[in-house]
Amino acid sequence: MTQLAAGHLKIQQDTIPELNPSYRLLLGPGPCNVDPRVLRITLSPQLGHLDPEFFAILEDTAHLLRWMFQTKNEMTLCVSGSGFSGAEAVLCNLLEEGDTIISGSLGFFSGQIVEISQRAGANVVNLETELGAPLEADVLEQAFKDHPEAKIFATAIAETSTGLLQPLAELERVTHAHGALFVVDAVCGLGGVPMNVDEMKIDACYAGSQKSIGALPGLAPVTLNERAVQVIKNRKRPVQSYYFDLQYLHRYWNGDHNYHHTACSNLVYGLREAVCIAMEEGLEARWARHQLNGDALKAGIEAMGLKLLTRPGYALSVLTAVSLPEGVDELAIRNGLLDEYNIEIGGGFGPLKGRLIRIGLMGYNSCRKNVDTVLAALEHILPRSGLTPQAGAALAAADAVYTR
Ligand SMILES: Cc1ncc(COP(=O)(O)O)c(C=O)c1O
Repeated sequence: MTQLAAGHLKIQQDTIPELNPSYRLLLGPGPCNVDPRVLRITLSPQLGHLDPEFFAILEDTAHLLRWMFQTKNEMTLCVSGSGFSGAEAVLCNLLEEGDTIISGSLGFFSGQIVEISQRAGANVVNLETELGAPLEADVLEQAFKDHPEAKIFATAIAETSTGLLQPLAELERVTHAHGALFVVDAVCGLGGVPMNVDEMKIDACYAGSQKSIGALPGLAPVTLNERAVQVIKNRKRPVQSYYFDLQYLHRYWNGDHNYHHTACSNLVYGLREAVCIAMEEGLEARWARHQLNGDALKAGIEAMGLKLLTRPGYALSVLTAVSLPEGVDELAIRNGLLDEYNIEIGGGFGPLKGRLIRIGLMGYNSCRKNVDTVLAALEHILPRSGLTPQAGAALAAADAVYTR
């Protein structure tokens, strides 16, 4: 058999540089830096995906995730993939060809519920909000009146593209009054914002390992209650995706552990450790920590003369979306932070491209040191974009939040 020589593939075999990634402070919309404990445990010896020792770790991790979600749901597991794999799994299992779903599209991420559902063959009623504003219950009520056949209402608790915390109580009430399933994207929110799946009567919920939970990317925790499970069991046709079939995944995680796919043991160790760390801290304390650091960051940002995109009263603690004045180059700010301070932050998506910077304080990264660091770095960078924050004002405003 002939071999393709490396040289033909534009690889200089004898000069391949040693990989040496930069140390970045990840203050974007996720991933975030993880606790060193999470990294350490991730480097523990690998286990095979069909090793009985690993089965025990899977079951144990599912129990811990139930605590994180605050649910007794049997069907609680991880999809091997990023946050959207959780979205894809939940929506494709619950939806069948011709079903109707109402999407509360609050921005780019919850907006993807539309495409995922359409690809699954569903008819989508798209309730798009003004960017930075929440979805109001009367809008949902009207949508259900216009589409009484709707089977699902889905939205996000934390819309990362606009920094919005969406109140869910009224939306849940309306959804259940019309007999539909209440599905929530908690990819950014779980572990950072107050939520309790059972108390909030969420029928199905998906999250992401790499944001407020504080683990590495690559796993999407999902949980479905008995009502949602029955919808899946009563499907007319099998789920079109083998990989995302939640009944197979549930058997692998929580049942007879029959082979379904090759799960990565080391990612599961890391996620398990991240949930253990959250347990040691306690959920209430964790939510309060995210709130305090988010408040301090926002106070600092506003003291620099910048405005938040999100409507007052709806700003997310874990992600702050900052509107930029006309003519200010978003990329220059982000590149300045990255090149000179090794700090990564996010930019705007879709219609907000170039108009926004987004700063995340999630999991391990939600701490005063990082608030002060990013505010000080911004104070140095912003004047190059024509902005003139008053020296020291941002840190003083943040300090006032910490000492209030
Ligand atoms: C609210 C929300 N939903 C879904 C996603 C998609 O997650 P992932 O990029 O991990 O697939 C994200 C990612 O930022 C998100 O913030």
